[in-house]
Amino acid sequence: MEKTQIKIAQLSDLHFLEEKTSLMQGSNPYNNLNSIVKNISPNEYDYMFLSGDISENGCTRSYELLQSILDGIQIPIYCIPGNHDNKDNMLSVLSNSSHIKICDRLSFSGWDILFLDTTVANETFGLLSKESLEKLRFNIEKSDAANICIVMHHHPYETGVARFDRVNLRNLADFQNIIQNTKVRLVTFGHVHNYYSMTLNSILYESAPAVSFQLKQKGADLVVENKYGFKELLFSATAVHSNCIWNHNEVLHH
Ligand SMILES: [Fe+2]
Repeated sequence: MEKTQIKIAQLSDLHFLEEKTSLMQGSNPYNNLNSIVKNISPNEYDYMFLSGDISENGCTRSYELLQSILDGIQIPIYCIPGNHDNKDNMLSVLSNSSHIKICDRLSFSGWDILFLDTTVANETFGLLSKESLEKLRFNIEKSDAANICIVMHHHPYETGVARFDRVNLRNLADFQNIIQNTKVRLVTFGHVHNYYSMTLNSILYESAPAVSFQLKQKGADLVVENKYGFKELLFSATAVHSNCIWNHNEVLHH
């Protein structure tokens, strides 16, 4: 019998480095991911999504460290790159684990999930190439699922905060034009290192918190918050709901 609800853990912006002890803005990505994975019970989630910035500097060792944790959780894990990733290194390491997948599509009861690569080499902002936009249009048109969810790294709308909007998806109008008045119900992404949610033309746009460091939502400066987390997505045949699971970093005493 087909499951009535599919539960997914979306983890984003892990920013892994070479060493287990390496810190990013005061937070330890290795410990944070380890703690999240240890607190996930077996069979709790059907899938995991990693929505980009898996590594901080794209080095092979960072993906190997990540893999050493993810090999302990035997659910299918779907990855897309972020602007900090090195796609060649990411693919060459992670493709050695059969449960880790780097592909552009997943389907389950009532839903098609489309994964988009929004990265541009050596740039922080995102862009969808003409070919990617055409492929997206085609995949939406030919989908026979009742609903579509899109997973990407960069945020495809204006947050109103200049420092974020300098590095969002550059051709967001092209993207929004393709998805509006279609079966796309949810666009879920990372990059902004916090949880944001808004509805535009009846489509829900929602980020996942960062597994590494969090950035305060308001204000002109980048202010780091002492917490980390991930988002769970609960898909039923007709709707999707989400929850953020927050953890607070331990205070380090010297
Ligand atoms: Fe990031």
